[in-house]
Amino acid sequence: MKRTKVADLLKGNLIGTEVMAKGWVRTRRGNKHVQFVALNDGSTIKNIQIVFDMAKFSDDDLRPVTTGSSICVTGQLVESQGKGQTCEIQADTLTVYGTADVETYPLQKKGHTLEFLRDIAHLRPRTNTFGAILRVRSALAFAIHKFFQEKGFFYLNTPLITASDCEGAGAMFQVTTLPLNDLPKTEEGAVDYSADFFGKPTALTVSGQLEGELGATALGAIYTFGPTFRAENSNTPRHLSEFWMIEPEVAFMDITENMDLAEEFVKYCINYALEHCKDDIEFLQQMYDKDLIERLKFVVENDFVRLTYGEGVKILEESGKKFEFPVHWGTDLQSEHERYLVEEHFKKPVILTDYPKEIKAFYMKQNEDGKTVRAMDVLFPHIGEIIGGSEREESYEKLLARIEELGIPMKDMWWYLDTRRFGTVPHSGFGLGFERLVLFVTGMTNIRDVIPFPRYPGHADF
Ligand code: 4AD
Ligand code: MG
Repeated sequence: MKRTKVADLLKGNLIGTEVMAKGWVRTRRGNKHVQFVALNDGSTIKNIQIVFDMAKFSDDDLRPVTTGSSICVTGQLVESQGKGQTCEIQADTLTVYGTADVETYPLQKKGHTLEFLRDIAHLRPRTNTFGAILRVRSALAFAIHKFFQEKGFFYLNTPLITASDCEGAGAMFQVTTLPLNDLPKTEEGAVDYSADFFGKPTALTVSGQLEGELGATALGAIYTFGPTFRAENSNTPRHLSEFWMIEPEVAFMDITENMDLAEEFVKYCINYALEHCKDDIEFLQQMYDKDLIERLKFVVENDFVRLTYGEGVKILEESGKKFEFPVHWGTDLQSEHERYLVEEHFKKPVILTDYPKEIKAFYMKQNEDGKTVRAMDVLFPHIGEIIGGSEREESYEKLLARIEELGIPMKDMWWYLDTRRFGTVPHSGFGLGFERLVLFVTGMTNIRDVIPFPRYPGHADF
């Protein structure tokens, strides 16, 4: 007999037939006449109930069937007498694959804190909460590919090991095979990277954008979707050292179309999750965030507010609110500022544009005012910045001048500048932090809880 997944069993159309279910035991209860096992196999948040008629089984048969053990059951799928479930299995046979010791299996009782579960991240996918989060995460990843593929974008894979710092923030993880306690030195006493694996200093990428631009100026429209790494020492509920980013890049697209694309894209993803992850999102709403579905629908159904950074700063200055970080024209916005605009002032997602060039990356298109660049940040309730993007500087001369002004080493950048030397075009793109999207859609509050095995300062277990 072939195994049927719990999600399919619960659809009910196999009622009246002999089925086989496999999974992990969530709970067992009952008396000497009948025992009930709630079985979960990860295919859905719901369990299937297995009914053991103790006339057919002995106490010894059932003894190893404890929370966390893995079993295979065959039996009749019948309509359920109890409420809250459509059907259940009346067990004929039982095979125990693996036991889980009651004294040492950590997921015995319900209601562990999220902090505790982080310490056992290797087992937390077996909880309802993390099962739900991981299924939503998977659905969102699929929605992202679907959205771009249906629009004719090509999926481009950009390198993870790189010699250039796209965002110029210097927060990169070095990649080296040099012996750290016996470094080869040049005559001047510096580290001799010519002896290193790639013959030069390399690091894990902070963004695939620069290579994405190479793709866009050839294929027209591309998107990347891969891991990125940032060695910033940010111990916040919104930062990870290793996170996944989606970066579309489109030739012949200006900043306004870029905003339209970003808005359509996030709305599509959220809507996809609402439609395809109903059970999981309802569970998360019930457990963690009473307003979750309402908030998701609100974002999907309303236009985002668009204004310039300058206008945003003015609103913040005139708000009369005491911020931890004072704000004036020229300062980088902190999440408290972003959230004030979104949650208190506009009560809607906001797209800010035209930031001061000093606080943005070198590649952004310079505005005529000489002070600002054509940047755009999409700001979300509870999250702050969820997307960062821009129209790119397509003028070779202006880009070169900016690179020199910032002292970015030309030997790292010649290939990038070639896009502007040969057939340059206006183009734009943005980056969506995947975990920030998952954070928003699941209603969780800490980004460490929406990636299976989070990496953050001091933590690289599992
Ligand atoms: O704003 P960022 O730094 O922009 C870029 O990297 C551009 N190259 C994107 C582009 O235009 N193609 O990062 C983009 C997004 C942020 O808006 C945020 O959602 C997410 O990536 N992000 C992080 N997510 C988790 N942990 C971190 N440490 C993050 N840093 C950025
Ligand atoms: Mg940013």
